[in-house]
Amino acid sequence: MARFIPKDLIEEIRGQNDIVDVISEYLELKPSGRGFFALCPFHSEKTPSFHISPERQIYHCFGCGVGGNVFSFIMDIENIGFVDAAKILADRAGIDLPETYDSKHYEEKMALSNKMYEINTQAARFYHSQLISKIGRPALEYLKSRKLSTKTIRRFGLGFAPDAWDKTREHLKDLGFEEDDLLKCGIIVQGKENTYDRFRNRIMFPIIDQRDNVVGFGGRVMDESVPKYLNTSDSPVFNKSNVLFGLNLAKRRRPLKDIILVEGYMDVIALNQYGYYNVVATLGTALTLEQAGLIRRYAGDAIVAYDGDIAGRRAAIRAIDMLTRAGCNVRVMIFPKGMDPDDIVIQHGKDYFNSLLMKSIPSVEFQLDILKEDYDIKTQKGRVEYVTAAAKILSKIENILERDVYINYLAKNTGFRSELIYRQISSMTPERQAKSVKKDFVGNNRHISIDIGSGSRSSHIITEKVLLNLMAQNENIAKKVRDRLGDYMFEEGIHRELIAIIDEILNEGSELNMAKIFDYIHESEESQQVMEVFDMQIEYDDIDKYIDDCINRLEEYKLKRDWKQVQAQISEMEKGKEYDLEEYTRLLERAQELNREIVILEREGRE
Ligand code: CTP
Ligand code: MN
Repeated sequence: MARFIPKDLIEEIRGQNDIVDVISEYLELKPSGRGFFALCPFHSEKTPSFHISPERQIYHCFGCGVGGNVFSFIMDIENIGFVDAAKILADRAGIDLPETYDSKHYEEKMALSNKMYEINTQAARFYHSQLISKIGRPALEYLKSRKLSTKTIRRFGLGFAPDAWDKTREHLKDLGFEEDDLLKCGIIVQGKENTYDRFRNRIMFPIIDQRDNVVGFGGRVMDESVPKYLNTSDSPVFNKSNVLFGLNLAKRRRPLKDIILVEGYMDVIALNQYGYYNVVATLGTALTLEQAGLIRRYAGDAIVAYDGDIAGRRAAIRAIDMLTRAGCNVRVMIFPKGMDPDDIVIQHGKDYFNSLLMKSIPSVEFQLDILKEDYDIKTQKGRVEYVTAAAKILSKIENILERDVYINYLAKNTGFRSELIYRQISSMTPERQAKSVKKDFVGNNRHISIDIGSGSRSSHIITEKVLLNLMAQNENIAKKVRDRLGDYMFEEGIHRELIAIIDEILNEGSELNMAKIFDYIHESEESQQVMEVFDMQIEYDDIDKYIDDCINRLEEYKLKRDWKQVQAQISEMEKGKEYDLEEYTRLLERAQELNREIVILEREGRE
């Protein structure tokens, strides 16, 4: 049965359903450039070629060619028609469609959730109105004493729960809500005879999920009494382990390079006031894998900014573990003892906080430092035990080049030779070692999904082909690529010849196209190889970005090739009994330098 949905409504549904959010409920997304990649759900594949563009709100699979917008995605993945897809997306966004089609169960569930959101929203409004009324005077003063501005208070919708047993309940009942639903929502509690307000005489922090629904509250006392915070108990719409405080604000700033993870509500709020919008907090519980996944969904990197005390550091270790498992690149901020991000930014200002942010260290370094405290590395025994334990941490790093950076760090800290530490790690993980070497050096250029001719050997050769193919499109692209290539030499002989031909055409200042290039090629054997270059179909969103990616690939390849050579020279030297110490040190330094460049390049590639 067809049904007419007004165009405006369709637009509204589309607008309220971010394609990245919707698709991430079905697929695991990996950030890449300005978009995301995933394994295509519509054909079978091992490397992700399904691309989602947040800017354009579309997806496209470079493997099988499917593509479309948020509606077509739901239609295809659920195998339903447009109206049903629109219905699902409308529900998801809390938009009312006049008629209903879905199963009764689904309807009921959605209706209950919506009611819960509504209750919470009304409660938040009530608490806020109390805060700015005469009754809330002490609460407002408390917040001012914590240096929060009116704008910040409004942005977070902070409120005050009056010092009474039934004010909130009565207000919500007056609005027409049933006591039963208020109980379900956790806004009131069942006593022996009566129900009563859960939150009394507390500053209220509405907890808003990433879809902008108010799902619960945290309530803080204004003095030293306990418990300092009281939170909503689990409800049909509230589960502490899958919400992050502040994510609703952070996600509006997408694309996010990183997300700062803090411990408390006050940390998120204070940092927001100072212009850090990419901050989230758990709700007093340890970070779960689910929450780590949320962070990963919205940003590639995470910065753990927990308190400088022992509990904070222990929590940081666990958070690092979760975030790493979720696929984040993690850094850690170190605070002076007894200080949290809120203290830092409020008492010492943004510049100081920023300087600490700049000094944040990679999580592995943090893990190694913390581990070190358990051993007495002044003794031989302590050092051996420390390095053995540390090797276990390092063996988990997949990228061998990144791993090498920390091997050197560990070597510097303990006096053991890098080579020995390296061997210790190898002995722990033989097969992973082999796997990651392969991954690092063979690589896969995720933008390129083309049928590569039998003559090609590895990804940098393919990248050379791709760049030549692009250059052959027209002289403008050719010039761009030429500029970016600088004196980089293609490895494949025929590719070098093609570059020479293109240079010649560019120098003549004449038009450039494939036919023109062919005019210069006479050998039939060569033209076969040239065809391989020109036969490719390449798709891209943004030519400049695409060229950048290709060039970075080549740079990376070159660095890795040099690194391997240096590494081989080092091993060769170490095999001999005597060697020139100066030369040896120079090589070690060179290896380290190359390492750093590679890690930086890889990081950029992910952003
Ligand atoms: N928390 C909680 N229950 C408590 C104490 C803390 O749920 N009894 C949670 C809250 O989410 C709180 C977080 O743990 O935000 C961190 O606690 P803490 O560092 O003590 O609070 P802050 O947010 O820093 O608040 P303040 O600066 O006002 O002390
Ligand atoms: Mn605090």
